Amino acid sequence: MSEENITDQKLAVEEACKIQQTSHFLEFSTVIKENDLVLAWLTRDNTKPIRPIKDGAFHTRFGSFQHNTILASKYGTQIGSSSSTQAGFIHVLHPTPELWSLSLPHRTQIVYTPDASYIVQRLRIRPGTHVIEAGTGSASFTHAMARTVGVRGRIWTFEFHEQRFQLAAKELEEHGLASVVKATHGDVCKNGFTHSCGDTLDASAVFLDLPAPWEAIPHLTTVISKSKITRICCFSPCMEQVQRTIEILQKNGWLDIEMVEVSCKRWEAHKEMVRKPEDAIERLRDIKRRRMDGLNKRNARVDAERATLNLSADNADTDSATDTDRGKFKKANKSESPSSAEFNPWGKGKRIHEGEEGYEWKNVSKVEAELKTHTSYLTFAYLPPPMRVHEETINCD
Ligand SMILES: C[S@@+](CC[C@H](N)C(=O)[O-])C[C@H]1O[C@@H](n2cnc3c(N)ncnc32)[C@H](O)[C@@H]1O
Repeated sequence: MSEENITDQKLAVEEACKIQQTSHFLEFSTVIKENDLVLAWLTRDNTKPIRPIKDGAFHTRFGSFQHNTILASKYGTQIGSSSSTQAGFIHVLHPTPELWSLSLPHRTQIVYTPDASYIVQRLRIRPGTHVIEAGTGSASFTHAMARTVGVRGRIWTFEFHEQRFQLAAKELEEHGLASVVKATHGDVCKNGFTHSCGDTLDASAVFLDLPAPWEAIPHLTTVISKSKITRICCFSPCMEQVQRTIEILQKNGWLDIEMVEVSCKRWEAHKEMVRKPEDAIERLRDIKRRRMDGLNKRNARVDAERATLNLSADNADTDSATDTDRGKFKKANKSESPSSAEFNPWGKGKRIHEGEEGYEWKNVSKVEAELKTHTSYLTFAYLPPPMRVHEETINCD
């Protein structure tokens, strides 16, 4: 190995170490340090990014949360509000691309986790892969890919909207991903995938999330890998866009073209109490028995009261004696016949916790009735590397 190559390798390792120390999207840490990115989980639908600093505070409708408490905690901890009037809490979570997609500042429509995970595996993106992406948008999918390609991989992402490009570049820098992701300001449909960094793109995966991918596809030929298979995914919300994309893919020699739609349904798993028919029958019998008991008791009491009233009518000392006797009978009835224990195999009327001992449970799963709204159609294809003509073949004739 030449000296130059060894120096290059050393630089790459140093660069990799630097990134690993600074990017929470590439490496997990339990400790929260000042100015680290922390994702505050308020509710299922509300996660907010915060950067804790000494003596700072995070104010929400659930109360105020002191940055000093967050800094003294580990990622994953539940933090209580410091407000005397609000007893809310938050969870301070470690950043991941999945959580980031739920909390990032939206500048555009974004790719969410169900699509992102499917695309990453279909494009065979793995540690070290070189990827081309356009447009960058809110850089949601860029984060997901950056975590997968890691410090040995590269992502060239293109965005023609200047402000979006600047915000994305700043965000990627702040997240310690600038060495993995090269953000470029440019129109890929007009000018192709031209970039200023001077690197060889040699990409084996391409992701196009823009309105007219058919205008960008012909420009790919010069920037994709010459030695490996290149896989592409175009993310388009309308079928007309899919049709135009397929036409241009076919024209440019892309193979195995396939359109996929990811439909996401949430599955819920929980324990359900087992209710046997014989218990149900016995419970009905018990209710009937108890009702009859109640009726019999009531009739006995009424009869007894009537008898007392008749007695009292005969008595000279009428009014006061009647009241006293009524009271006596009521008390006597209550104490004489305490109601028998209820047959209650399912804890009806009690507060039973799922899986509580003393009851029979079975594990069940339930699927959400409604599909989440349509996001986009995914068009996949691959392009083999150009055929190499061997020198021997040329020399043959
Ligand atoms: C839907 S957004 C991409 C969202 C992104 N995939 C994410 O997950 O955050 C599409 C972006 O493509 C950009 N765009 C559209 N046409 C473009 C072009 N010809 N060259 C570069 N960027 C383009 C738009 O400005 C927009 O920001």
